[in-house]
Order: sequence, then structure tokens, then C-alpha cells
Amino acid sequence: MSTPAPEDRKDTMVESAAGQPETPAAEAKRGPAIATRERRQGLINPSGETPYLVVEDLTVKFPTADGVVSAVNGLSYSVPLGRTLAIVGESGSGKSVSSMAVMGLHDRKRTRITGSIRLGGDEIVGLPENELMKVRGDAVAMVFQDPQSSLHPLYTVGNQITEAYRVHNKVSKDAAKKRALEMLDLVGIPNPQRRFSQYPHEFSGGMRQRAMIAMGLVNDPKLVIADEPTTALDVTVQAQILDLLNNLQKEFGSAIVLITHDLGVVAEMADDVLVMYAGRCVEYGTAEDVLARPRMPYTWGLLESIPTVSAATEKLRPIKGLPPSLLNLPTGCSFNPRCPYTDRVKGERCTTDLPELLPVDGAGAHTSRCHLHDKASIYEAEVAPRLG
Ligand SMILES: Nc1ncnc2c1ncn2[C@@H]1O[C@H](COP(=O)(O)OP(=O)(O)O)[C@@H](O)[C@H]1O
Ligand code: SF4
Ligand SMILES: [Mg+2]
Repeated sequence: MSTPAPEDRKDTMVESAAGQPETPAAEAKRGPAIATRERRQGLINPSGETPYLVVEDLTVKFPTADGVVSAVNGLSYSVPLGRTLAIVGESGSGKSVSSMAVMGLHDRKRTRITGSIRLGGDEIVGLPENELMKVRGDAVAMVFQDPQSSLHPLYTVGNQITEAYRVHNKVSKDAAKKRALEMLDLVGIPNPQRRFSQYPHEFSGGMRQRAMIAMGLVNDPKLVIADEPTTALDVTVQAQILDLLNNLQKEFGSAIVLITHDLGVVAEMADDVLVMYAGRCVEYGTAEDVLARPRMPYTWGLLESIPTVSAATEKLRPIKGLPPSLLNLPTGCSFNPRCPYTDRVKGERCTTDLPELLPVDGAGAHTSRCHLHDKASIYEAEVAPRLG
């Protein structure tokens, strides 16, 4: 997304100063132009519900010896409580880096972060470390691909969940233990009393993942960020963990940001979908819009490169080439070196102009970043038949 003009930004800040973007009725009163701009900036969720997490124009850069790595560029999205946003994209597209920024996990000395991240209206970009730590445990929890990175090998699982609870709640050891046992039970770990005193290495991969989810959710966080939570697990356990996250969301009503490269997981879990390419959002909308009516060649490529039941006999069509270096992005659309549709765009725009993230139907919550004029007809005539 291009950086809004200064007067635009001021205007946006005023309207969202309380961090509470308006209801659709209020939006209608203020006029469609402003509403469309706010949608583009992620301030209004595609569902129209008031978001809990609002990420606005987030940029994350790493100065390195080889130059500045632009890992995340002008990313905006929002997630209401009880809703799941899936962030999808190939490896290296900035999914984890953007989510670590929401958790405030980047090393401040080595990272340049600009933009705004608000949780329930409170800004967290620029918060001092001690305040961030409080937010991290209280309001936000992160579930990683590899439970080893969160579970300490030398402490029992029960102890770690108990301590995670006591850091944020002034309760006795017994009360905390009771809570930890409840959580182990809730995440489907059989015989919690016995499991409580075991070490992480005594758990199977799936059980460790459950234990980490128990630890993440012990403080009843409003936002859960799950970064490839099932990638390391076999398919059956993967389905169980996704079910568990779904059920816990119903119980706790939390907002979930689910990071994955697996569109099968997206179809299963997501209410909204954001497709990332080379640090930028290239398509964003409800899962139904993005999966059933995708409007960006990169999203088409992702969909065509997954095996589906109906297309099982067809050859898969992986996206040709590799994502660009984030040290030196191509000019114009970052996808242009790999895109099979550049000759359908007049002139050289694909290689000279960065497309803006715009509503696919001229208005509305489904946005994509592509210069093609006839995205809908190309999708219907050429891409959809290949998807089967
Ligand atoms: N601390 C860092 N310093 C320099 N580059 C980094 C750092 N952390 C991540 N990157 C780069 O940022 C890009 C995005 O990474 P990441 O968000 O982890 O991708 P993914 O979408 O696979 O989660 C990658 O090119 C990665 O190499
Ligand atoms: S802007 Fe051009 S290069 Fe980028 S996705 Fe659209 S057609 Fe392809
Ligand atoms: Mg990642």
C-alpha cells in the first residue's frame, strides 16, 4: 500500500484515535470514500465488526551488513474478538516477522518498526519493555510451530503452566496448580494429574503442542497468534489441534491470527484471509471472498499449487520461480518476475508502478493489489476451470 498523504493520515488518526473504528451505520454516515480508505487500511474488518486488534501501516525493517531487509511493508489488518484471520504466503513473505511485531518480540536495537498496532484501543508500538511484557502475557498469547521453543526442557510441564499463570495472577501455588490441571484437561491431555509432573520430552509431538496451547491460554488471552501451529505434526494430529483451537475460541471468545502456508488449513479455520507476498498484503477479505473469488494472480498461483480432491488427477502447477530478495525488491509489482499475466496489462505498468491495494469491485471489503482490469473474467474463464 502506498503511504497515505500526510493529510490523509491525520484524518485517519483522528477518526480512529480511540482505536474503535465505527459501526457500519456510523461508517455510512461519514461517507463511502472515507469508509473505503479505512477498509483498505484494515481499520474496518471485512465483517464490519469492531476489531480488537488493529494493525495499521506496519513496516518492519532489519538493517544488516548487506543492506536493509524490508520484511514487512505497509501492512494493515484487523481482527475482532471471536474471529480468525489467516495470514498465508510462501516462506519468507513476512508472516512471522509481522506477528512478532504484534507480540513486541523484536530486538529493538536491530529492528526498525513504524506504524501502529492497537489492542483494544491501546497502542503497543513504542511501549517500554516492562509494559509490553504485561500485555504479552495478559492479553496476547503466541503458539509456535515448535513447542520446544516455548517449553523449557528442564522444568515439568505442570510447573511451566503454573508459573505462566502466577506471573500474571496473584494466587497461591495450589490455586495455580488447580488452574494448570484444568487447562491440561481442557486441551485434551489425558490423565492431567500424571502429566502435570512430566517433562516436555516425555510428551509426544501432538501432546507437547497441546501443552503449549494450555500454557498460552492459561491467562485467558483476548488474542492468540498461532504461527504454523500444526506444520510439524502428522495429518491426524493436525486436525485435532485445529479442532482444539476452534473449540477454545468458542469457549474463550478470543481473536485468532493463524499463520500458515497451507490453504487447506485456511479453508478449515479462517473467517478472514490475508495473502502476503514479499512483505506486502496482496489480497485481503473474508475467507469466502478470497477462496471462492480470488482476484490476484499470486493467490491464483497458491490455489493452483495445492492438491485438491477434484484435481487429483491433474498435474499440480507450482508457482514458477522464487520470491524476490527483500534487500532489493523488483520495481512495480513485486510479483512481476513470476507473474504469467503481465502481458495482459497495458504498457509496462507491472514493472514500473506498485499497484495499490484496492477494492476488487470498486467498493467493499475485498481488496487486492493488481493492475489487471479484467481479473474477474480471467479468473472465471481460465483459473477456476483449472482448479476443478
Ligand atoms: N532478524 C532478522 N534480520 C534480518 N532479516 C530477517 C530477520 N528476521 C527475519 N528476516 C527476514 O525477513 C523475511 C520474512 O521472514 P518471516 O516473517 O520469518 O517469513 P515467513 O513468512 O516465512 O514467516 C525473511 O526474508 C527473513 O529472512
Ligand atoms: S500487477 Fe501485473 S505482475 Fe502484479 S499480479 Fe497483477 S498482472 Fe501480475
Ligand atoms: Mg514463519
